[in-house]
Amino acid sequence: MKKSAAFMLSISFFILLKPSLLLASEKQLVGVFGASGRTGVHIIEELKQRDVDIRAFSRRAKENSDNVNWAVADVTSEESLTEALKDVDIIISAIGPVGGDNSENVDYLGTINIVAAAKKNGVKQIIYMSSIGAGGAENISTVMLNLLANKTMKWKALAEDQIRKSGIDFTIVRPGGLIGDPATQGIQFSQGDNVLGWIPREDVAAVLVESIFKDGAKNKTFEVINDDSLAVDAWRNEFDSLELNQYGVIATGELPTRYWLTPLLVLIGIIYLIKRRRARKLNNSV
Ligand SMILES: NC(=O)c1ccc[n+]([C@@H]2O[C@H](COP(=O)([O-])OP(=O)(O)OC[C@H]3O[C@@H](n4cnc5c(N)ncnc54)[C@H](OP(=O)(O)O)[C@@H]3O)[C@@H](O)[C@H]2O)c1
Repeated sequence: MKKSAAFMLSISFFILLKPSLLLASEKQLVGVFGASGRTGVHIIEELKQRDVDIRAFSRRAKENSDNVNWAVADVTSEESLTEALKDVDIIISAIGPVGGDNSENVDYLGTINIVAAAKKNGVKQIIYMSSIGAGGAENISTVMLNLLANKTMKWKALAEDQIRKSGIDFTIVRPGGLIGDPATQGIQFSQGDNVLGWIPREDVAAVLVESIFKDGAKNKTFEVINDDSLAVDAWRNEFDSLELNQYGVIATGELPTRYWLTPLLVLIGIIYLIKRRRARKLNNSV
């Protein structure tokens, strides 16, 4: 009895002298890549409402403010990330190429570096903002994006794959076309990359941040689009119904067969009809 009383007393003294040791492990530290971006600013605002510590990353130095600690990190340099991710528990990545950079460099190689640095630092969850189309969708907007923007979906798909194979818990969110409108919170989740639609960046940020707090979001890949017919906030209870290993296919960025085969067959048909008509005219004139 005496021994246990002495033990309790020494523990109490220890806590009184070092209260930081108790507090240190309470809050999760969330590291946000792309924090200065158009979705990133909403992610930071959403995180400020939650009981977490925030480390925001940018390639440029920024002043700390309102519980946000800014750190310089460039995803194209693994060394800069290893130091930046020290003590980070959860990563949210909303990076994207800016100023003439490309998706291969930022989305793909950047994600390889993030995953490597995350492993070294014992990060527990990676939440990645990808895009509808990274699961092999063959709709016209995805096809045009691949044609005009350096096979963007191929690089996003390969980045997703790196995260899924990392061994770290992940959540991959694929938004539809991004708009700057205020959040509506009527959000449809789906899987398999078969939907098309729009979504405000503020809504995407809400889904990314909520994924920290929902066990059902772990190791899932899913699309999000705006749907005003759905009840506001209903999506917050939808994570459990998402399935594991449902991500469509790894997009290649190539022009899908049906986009060139049908026009080719039509062209061959037209050439055949023109030749037949000419041959008839020739026969008639002889
Ligand atoms: N447009 C659409 O309709 C659409 C649809 C679905 C998904 N998406 C994807 O959603 C993502 C976010 O889009 P957004 O419009 O919110 O982004 P954004 O405003 O273009 O911001 C991009 C962010 O990426 C960061 N970044 C770029 N290169 C970096 C590097 N080398 N190292 C570290 N950070 C880097 C920038 O940070 P600093 O400059 O501060 O370093 C910036 O904060 C993008 O990947 C985009 O492709 C877009």
